[in-house]
Amino acid sequence: MSPSSAAPVITIDGPTASGKGTIAGRVAGRLGWAVLDSGALYRLTALGVLRSGCGADDVDGVAGVAARLDVVFQGERILLGGEDVAGAIREEHIGNLASRIAAYPPVRAALLQRQRDFRRHPGLVADGRDMGTVVFPDAPLKIFLVADVEARAERRYKQLKGKGFSVNLSDLLEDMRIRDQRDRDRASAPLVPAEDAVMIDSSALSIEQTVEAVLDLWSKKVF
Ligand code: DC
Repeated sequence: MSPSSAAPVITIDGPTASGKGTIAGRVAGRLGWAVLDSGALYRLTALGVLRSGCGADDVDGVAGVAARLDVVFQGERILLGGEDVAGAIREEHIGNLASRIAAYPPVRAALLQRQRDFRRHPGLVADGRDMGTVVFPDAPLKIFLVADVEARAERRYKQLKGKGFSVNLSDLLEDMRIRDQRDRDRASAPLVPAEDAVMIDSSALSIEQTVEAVLDLWSKKVF
């Protein structure tokens, strides 16, 4: 068995702005594990599509962009063709385009192995929509993180404001509802909890309480 196939994975799936990224990063930090922000790969593909001039409806063209992504994750920095685009990919229009192209099966196929390559010892925390169902179906702990859409819109609003983006709360709420529905209803790898996933509703939990809940579930698996 290769070392990477034996490495444990904690998957954290859930709708947009449910706090997956923050929770995944903190859980990984506490365990000393690697982290995979799979949404960043779809966002990078969206940015690549805009920059390449390929039409967003050209499924094979978009899949080609995904397959050729020249990306390096370097701590907080995400280099696309050598340029740091960590801030640019967080913009709402990129998130919306990412959600559209994520419905194309060839795009998902093009990104599959790249995601699995993040698996390494001592472990990986992977966040996204299909981490527990498709990418790491053998993960020993799968979390499905939910929160009310209003709580999520509020969080995303504060996050984007904090980064200096100009945003409107009701537009954000509307975009979020559309995006959730698209992610849930698509035929390929829709946003659904894995059968063996544990649901955590973080609407009324702090980040720390949510992190503790995940670590507690993990310690019960291990000991
Ligand atoms: O998690 P996020 O908001 O950064 O993801 C952006 C979009 O990418 C999301 O709306 C759907 C898509 N995505 C996906 O289809 N599968 C994943 N594993 C992660 C993200």
